[in-house]
Amino acid sequence: MNFRIGVIPGDGIGPEITAEAVKVLDAVASKYGHTFDYDEILLGGASIDVHGIPLTDEAVETARSCDAVLMGSIGGDAATSPWYKLEPSRRPEAGLLKIRKELGLFANLRPAYLYNELKDACPIKESVIGPDGFDMIIVRELTGGLYFGDRETKEVDGVMTAVDTLSYNEKEIRRIAVRAFDIAMKRRRKVTSVDKANVLDSSRLWRKVVEEVAGDYPEVTLEHMLVDNCAMQLVHNPAQFDVIVTENMFGDILSDEASMVTGSIGMLSSASLNETKFGLYEPSHGSAPDIAGKGIANPIATILSAAMMLRYSLDLDTEADAVEAAVAGFLAEGNRTVDIAVEGEEWLGTSAAGDVIASMVAGA
Ligand code: IPM
Ligand code: MG
Repeated sequence: MNFRIGVIPGDGIGPEITAEAVKVLDAVASKYGHTFDYDEILLGGASIDVHGIPLTDEAVETARSCDAVLMGSIGGDAATSPWYKLEPSRRPEAGLLKIRKELGLFANLRPAYLYNELKDACPIKESVIGPDGFDMIIVRELTGGLYFGDRETKEVDGVMTAVDTLSYNEKEIRRIAVRAFDIAMKRRRKVTSVDKANVLDSSRLWRKVVEEVAGDYPEVTLEHMLVDNCAMQLVHNPAQFDVIVTENMFGDILSDEASMVTGSIGMLSSASLNETKFGLYEPSHGSAPDIAGKGIANPIATILSAAMMLRYSLDLDTEADAVEAAVAGFLAEGNRTVDIAVEGEEWLGTSAAGDVIASMVAGA
């Protein structure tokens, strides 16, 4: 089949890791007889350097016209990069928020699990985690809440005052809750809805709507958890979680925490989906400007994001399985990148790792 895939290399290590994911996609295309046409899209600092803004309307339209978009990472070192001297609405991150909003990417799926082969990388003792590791997915609402509410900084009675607004309506809550329950039905059938209902009105509405949605999923167990407790539980007993559903800001924070607990943030993919099959796929990690251009970044999170794209947007399950199996085979054969190598162990650079995984797909 024929697909158009938008590719956003982005900033920092982004171009290096997306190149490896494209290499793997090319291996998929030739093995399974598909044609993938790639459209390069500028987002973040890469767009600022060319257009002066982090995302042009033309870039949004290009993305919209594709079947799916694969992204590397955006942003630079806020202390040193000239991008961060610009006003907030012109910085790299603003481009990411704009593409999420314009394309209606309200459902952000961020899996976090412990790889058996990489148990030693997990910063939590095995006696705490238990013998079976953990495997959760955070379903983060991505186009509402504090990120998109009205904000203002002004002087009130001679005192500088800043306001950010946290607002959710029941429709926004319902659609993300439905996504979370649908996902739970394909997993271990447990949803933990995370909020701050002991303080926030938006959380009390969140809880009520999630309860209503749960009524349509009698086989799924629903529990509510306050966000501060959830932050603690993630390091205390991560194995208790299957699907976590939460609002934008809480999800931002908890997904970073969950990914770090795996000890292998270079391995974790993510998907941002709208109401249709369309999605934007990107690694869970950032642009790592400190190692950009060195050829040592781990491309696996981006390669696994490409696998998610094959599965969710292009309906190519067999192909997605093949990519995931190639990554598993890569690890099982003892291949490592520097971030997941134990001291003294040999490791592969970005491109060499991509070569091994692509050739495993080709041979699958
Ligand atoms: C993320 C990032 C973004 C967010 C930033 C770069 C705006 O941290 O995707 O988690 O906060 O959503
Ligand atoms: Mg984040």
